[in-house]
Amino acid sequence: MVGSVVEVEPMSAKLQSRGAVEISSEIFDPTAVVAEPLPPVVANGADIDEGGEEKKGKSREIVLGRNVHTTCLAVTEPDANDDFTGDKEAFMASVLARYRKTLIERTKHHLGYPYNLDFDYGALAQLQHFSINNLGDPFIESNYGVHSREFEVGVLDWFARLWDLEKNEYWGYITNCGTEGNLHGILVGREVLPDGILYASRESHYSVFKAARMYRMDSVKVGTLVSGEIDCADFKVQLLANKDKPAIINVNIGTTVKGAVDDLDLVIQTLEECGFTHDRFYIHCDGALFGLMMPFVKRAPKVTFKKPIGSVSVSGHKFVGCPMPCGVQITRIEHINALSRNVEYLASRDATIMGSRNGHAPIFLWYTLNRKGYKGFQKEVQKCLRNAHYLKDRLLDAGISAMLNELSSTVVFERPLEEEFVRRWQLACQGNIAHVVVMPNVTIEKLDDFLSELVEKRSTWFQDGKVQPPCVAADIGGESCLCALHRAA
Ligand SMILES: Cc1ncc(COP(=O)(O)O)c(C=O)c1O
Repeated sequence: MVGSVVEVEPMSAKLQSRGAVEISSEIFDPTAVVAEPLPPVVANGADIDEGGEEKKGKSREIVLGRNVHTTCLAVTEPDANDDFTGDKEAFMASVLARYRKTLIERTKHHLGYPYNLDFDYGALAQLQHFSINNLGDPFIESNYGVHSREFEVGVLDWFARLWDLEKNEYWGYITNCGTEGNLHGILVGREVLPDGILYASRESHYSVFKAARMYRMDSVKVGTLVSGEIDCADFKVQLLANKDKPAIINVNIGTTVKGAVDDLDLVIQTLEECGFTHDRFYIHCDGALFGLMMPFVKRAPKVTFKKPIGSVSVSGHKFVGCPMPCGVQITRIEHINALSRNVEYLASRDATIMGSRNGHAPIFLWYTLNRKGYKGFQKEVQKCLRNAHYLKDRLLDAGISAMLNELSSTVVFERPLEEEFVRRWQLACQGNIAHVVVMPNVTIEKLDDFLSELVEKRSTWFQDGKVQPPCVAADIGGESCLCALHRAA
């Protein structure tokens, strides 16, 4: 349902008659932070599993975000005399100033999404005036000259090296996001093995099953362990039931909700045990979340093209810390010809999902990789893992159910009772659980603020004992659950 649009008045009559261009504090205080309106829409939706898929035959209430149509900023026609008075300019400046304030406040209270909000790209502000577009293949220059392919290929080389492919062995591109990486990786898999079945754990990101729907591929949802990792015993059963068809597998290098890392080696071993030779399977590694963290965790299974994998993708705006959504996709060069087409009008080759591609993103990635280097990322990974352990321990100390996978900085805990608290800290929730993803910008002080607010709120939510904290044993295991039943056990 569409709510009413809030029309922001372009300028008061009083100001117009004065011909003033300054922002009157009477009309608008740009330093005031707008409180988020809070009417969460409760939808009687179908039950959604971790992959964003609807579970057949079940339903549960899910809380949708607020309807933005109630607060959107209308686009208004400039007045005839605006060029002279500058009123519209002043009005827009005031809207932007207020928006900036909101961004500062929202950034301060963000914990639920795996975005590193700690960066300084001031040096790149000078590039804002250019329409940089890398349309076409990164390695073949198109006729459009305002591009950043030199940066893009430099970044791709860095990632290919990270995952053990030589310059002449890989192909890749800077995508618009991790989802595009998944769509591309799975498409390459399907082009290499046209009648392959897509296998992915039920806790895979929803984009994986979206790819299966888009490409009309048969897909199999594989069960998971309580950690969120793919259950290779179930994988084996599913593979044996479909032995006549090749397998295209999505392996999670960090699941969305629990930050679980699928055991790549065990996946490969299971395929081999089921009689799948290397030419009958294709593995895409979805490293959107931890693709850049895993190489720096000593105990982590190594993601490398020395193993029989076909592609790896990672999001650029997550751990790397890029202010616009982007990602990196790397595959073996021999696979890419299967889906490439030459395009005369571009003077380049079409092998990407999108046509026009953000040419600013590679420069941001190039800038941050240069500044931090492998050592810088390693330090940040260690800090995130330490801080995630701190949060998990403090939650448990406070009697709040919590779990942290060994290789992860995603702390899963009992879903806060009040939606207002969830929205204030921008937590991602599913069923009875919520999570905080500890990124480099998440400091101990921020975690302490969050913890003290949560503990204080909980004392009111569960004050009279009529409402009890939820049992989360089914989500994170009985040993991590501190509900009345499991605490007593
Ligand atoms: C495991 C996983 N894969 C893919 C994605 C999609 O990434 P993006 O939001 O960059 O499209 C996400 C997003 O959180 C994710 O957690």
